[in-house]
Amino acid sequence: MNATQEKLKLKFAQALAAAFGTEYAGVDPILVAASNPKFGDYQANVALSLSKKLGQQPRAIASAIVEKLDISDICEQPEIAGPGFINLKLQTAYLEAQLNAIQADARLGVPAAKTPKREIVDFSSPNIAKEMHVGHLRSTIIGDSIARILEFQGHDVLRLNHVGDWGTQFGMLITYLREVYPEALTTANALDIGDLVSFYRKAKQRFDEDEVFQETARQEVVRLQAGATDTLHAWKLLCEQSRREFQVIYDLLNVQVTERGESFYNPLLPTVVEDLQSSGLLEENQGAQVVFLDGFTNREGEPLPLIVQKSDGGYNYATTDLAALRYRIQQDEAKRIIYVTDAGQGNHFAQFFQVAGKAGWIPDDVELVHVPFGLVLGEDGKKFKTRSGDTVRLRDLLDEAVIRARADLAARLQEEERTETAEFINEVSQVVGISAVKYADLSQNRTSNYIFSYDKMLDLKGNTAPYMLYAYARIQGISRKGGINFQELGDHAQVFLQHETELALAKYLLQLDEVINAVEQDLLPNRLCEYLYELSKKFNQFYDRNQGVRVLEAEEPFRTSRLVLCDLTAKTLRLGLSLLGIQVVERM
Ligand code: ARG
Repeated sequence: MNATQEKLKLKFAQALAAAFGTEYAGVDPILVAASNPKFGDYQANVALSLSKKLGQQPRAIASAIVEKLDISDICEQPEIAGPGFINLKLQTAYLEAQLNAIQADARLGVPAAKTPKREIVDFSSPNIAKEMHVGHLRSTIIGDSIARILEFQGHDVLRLNHVGDWGTQFGMLITYLREVYPEALTTANALDIGDLVSFYRKAKQRFDEDEVFQETARQEVVRLQAGATDTLHAWKLLCEQSRREFQVIYDLLNVQVTERGESFYNPLLPTVVEDLQSSGLLEENQGAQVVFLDGFTNREGEPLPLIVQKSDGGYNYATTDLAALRYRIQQDEAKRIIYVTDAGQGNHFAQFFQVAGKAGWIPDDVELVHVPFGLVLGEDGKKFKTRSGDTVRLRDLLDEAVIRARADLAARLQEEERTETAEFINEVSQVVGISAVKYADLSQNRTSNYIFSYDKMLDLKGNTAPYMLYAYARIQGISRKGGINFQELGDHAQVFLQHETELALAKYLLQLDEVINAVEQDLLPNRLCEYLYELSKKFNQFYDRNQGVRVLEAEEPFRTSRLVLCDLTAKTLRLGLSLLGIQVVERM
């Protein structure tokens, strides 16, 4: 709901009370956007829903409401249509006043959350010594955008990187490290182990072919859990190496995230199991400690257990998530915890949420949300791979996007016979390339799979980053062409709306709050992308020589008014894109 709808809702409450008694003040006016702009902007369907209760014809109810409805400062005289719809059309003067008000507002009229909360966004979360794959890229991009939107709304956001930095694979890795870099364990300095992914592969190979190695690896796991100094040192070396590699990606993407890996919760694991024991939920099943789940069954229809301690005494992914959940509720005092992972982990989240709920660990005012996303596919519709069939390294993927953006830019410069400095070319290719990857991901409904296509994401036309960036740069071009400093238009420059395309643009600009509110609730950043795309289209219609209006060549006071509309559009694009983690360029 946007600010105008909220105002109207209040007016309806008053009218309903005046017409039918105070007990009707709380009745939902069922205010929706008009299906056809011909009928106005909004439509209230409350008269139809009250007909039975009041025992009157809806049209009669509608007139009784309209008679008491005091909205002359917002809308034209309401019209009753069809069986009893109340059609509302916003007044031009009202729209003008709203736009005048948001011009000077850094938040562009979007109110901050009334009750700021502590919220945790658990995102990115790659695994040490394994590669950061496209799934982690999606998590990083989507999680960052969600965090940005919540931060903008004034929430106290903790961005957590739940790195997979603990587990039995470290036995194998450390044993291999001792073999190939014996000096690593005795020097205090950081070590360059090189490409960790191939390191992992080689370690795995050694593990699979050599029984002695396997036994040593198992002992290393025990030593790691017991905190043996040299083993811990080796573990740290591996983590540091991974961290440096992850950081390259975070820097390229301009993403901030605080590392709090699985190992952090390690000391808390035994009490998770003890507490499940004392709440009577724990059962022994084939030597393991488990909690049986409702609604999850195996093929035979028997209830499935969630294992919290394996028969060898070890803990697992779910135990760690249970410990993390408790810590986040008790120590971090989070009121909403958002987990951004691939949809394939849906059951994992549903299961440990259920166990935590049964154990009474989730207070009523705490909300747990799994934010799932689909797969990234290659252009052939299959799993995204390099031509040689290997998994794509994120570093290469992002570099390639920048290289292609640079080639596109070079072609355009040649076509337009422009010359630009190397600095300009570097900046624009970097911004366009990275933004294209981010926007292609965010503009899809995250729950669906999407096909990764450089050609599509870098297209200047369509719902793409280059299109949005171009729309922004084009508006800045207007100010350059007219020698106008948008900032100096003055906070008192008045908006006058005459033309149809101006009205359409104006109304759309005033809906930003509605979109941001929606994303805050449903955590679907693609809604914001759609809004910005639609806004750019509305702007292009307004600025179109044939369909729209003159701007720089218009007479005053319309010239200034239209420049204000241009500026507001640019500011909305810039703000909206920044919430997607996308930076704008003034020219491109
Ligand atoms: N490390 C996991 C993976 O790569 C993601 C962790 C997600 N967060 C969580 N609290 N489980 O799939």
